[in-house]
Amino acid sequence: MEISRPRGTRDFLSDEMKQRKYVENTFRRVFENYGYGEIKTPIFEDLSLFTMKSGEAIKEEIYHFKDKGERDLALRPELTAPVSRLYLNELQRSPKPIKMYYFGSCFRYERPQAGRFRQFWQFGCELIGGRSPEAEAEVIAMAAHCLNEIGLTDYEFHIGNLGIIRSLLNDAKIPGDEQGQIMGLVDKGDVEELGNLLNSMDISVSLKEILLKLIEIKGHNEVIDKVRSIIKKCEGAFKALDDLEDLLNHLETFGFTNYIVNLGIARGLDYYSGMVFEIYVHGLGAQKQISGGGTYNLIEIFGGEPVESTGFAFGFDRVMEALKKQNAEIPVEGHVDVFVAPLSGNMRKESFKIVQDLRRNGISADVDLARKKVKKLLSYADHLGVKYAVLVGARDIEGGKVTLKNMESGNQELVDLDNLPIKLRDELEMD
Ligand code: HAM
Repeated sequence: MEISRPRGTRDFLSDEMKQRKYVENTFRRVFENYGYGEIKTPIFEDLSLFTMKSGEAIKEEIYHFKDKGERDLALRPELTAPVSRLYLNELQRSPKPIKMYYFGSCFRYERPQAGRFRQFWQFGCELIGGRSPEAEAEVIAMAAHCLNEIGLTDYEFHIGNLGIIRSLLNDAKIPGDEQGQIMGLVDKGDVEELGNLLNSMDISVSLKEILLKLIEIKGHNEVIDKVRSIIKKCEGAFKALDDLEDLLNHLETFGFTNYIVNLGIARGLDYYSGMVFEIYVHGLGAQKQISGGGTYNLIEIFGGEPVESTGFAFGFDRVMEALKKQNAEIPVEGHVDVFVAPLSGNMRKESFKIVQDLRRNGISADVDLARKKVKKLLSYADHLGVKYAVLVGARDIEGGKVTLKNMESGNQELVDLDNLPIKLRDELEMD
């Protein structure tokens, strides 16, 4: 019987891991340059952490189980709730804002398809406390900065504010469950279905028209006035629109203007309270959303003081896919530079000493561990893609030397063994 991977999971071979590592390290560098510190939380949490806000229905979409002590646990579907829990457990007294970032796997019980997995990775951050348009602007500018650093260009950055539609629905006294249904269809962008749903509800014609108009509006900051003229007299919606305008002005200062205002962003997760954003790469098809985030107040829902926070997460796997679709050049790190080849059986131990000496000198090097025949050694070195081979022959070693072969040019030269690390370091630096 062949044992295969669980549905919706993947194996990554080392070439792919090198590309992923490059993007991970680039994101890490950008997040840290913006003052974020890395944190790690457990892969599994109490199930209640995820049901508390989202309700029991979320259980359909996640992996949850009882452990041997009858505790209800769940594999985390995302990291915002765990980070809010961590804040409540450890950081309530710390000066705010607190800037934390994470990279880790998440699990969702979804129907797998291209770009949608049951285990996937998120690279994200939470800026806890200190809600302000400048905090939101900095978070957005950082997300865009990350994409620019990895060379992704064909993305669309959509920004909205949930407070606008939410306030209109609240003012009209639409019950919570109906609001949920409406926001669900807004999130899907299904205008026709939304129209049908609104028709089936007890909602005034003018509110219906306003809602359908609002979610279709897309543009730069010039759309703010248009929205203002549509929403007429709802105070909460005006306040949310003012917040959005303030944020857009700050984005200008933070040097990011390549956005689209989109009031149709509802976000699938239900803890957002104000600004929301999503990043799309249309080439990815149905799973085009490579990142999402916004401002939320989960901490209060978990029993803490009201602390507004802003965050987002890249769907790391989709970012990688987007880079590939764009044929972006992804520098790979971590190739071995040197292969040490014993030219006879009695040169093996000598070769091990040499390879260890190179490694101690910070040079990435490999050595024959499979007692290969001499003929096979160089083709194996070729397969590894090394730049240099060190050929260790008995006669050379007697004179304290080895032969250094440049694998690209084929040139060979005798080198003093004592000099080998320095020589190699110089050559590799010049490459
Ligand atoms: P989310 O939009 O549910 O937000 O997930 C963030 C990103 O994870 C998505 O934009 C998508 O790229 C990726 N993603 C989601 N599900 C899958 C899947 N099944 N397979 C592959 N990729 C997937 C959150 O999770 C929020 N916690 C983000 C956040 C942080 N908001 C505030 N702070």
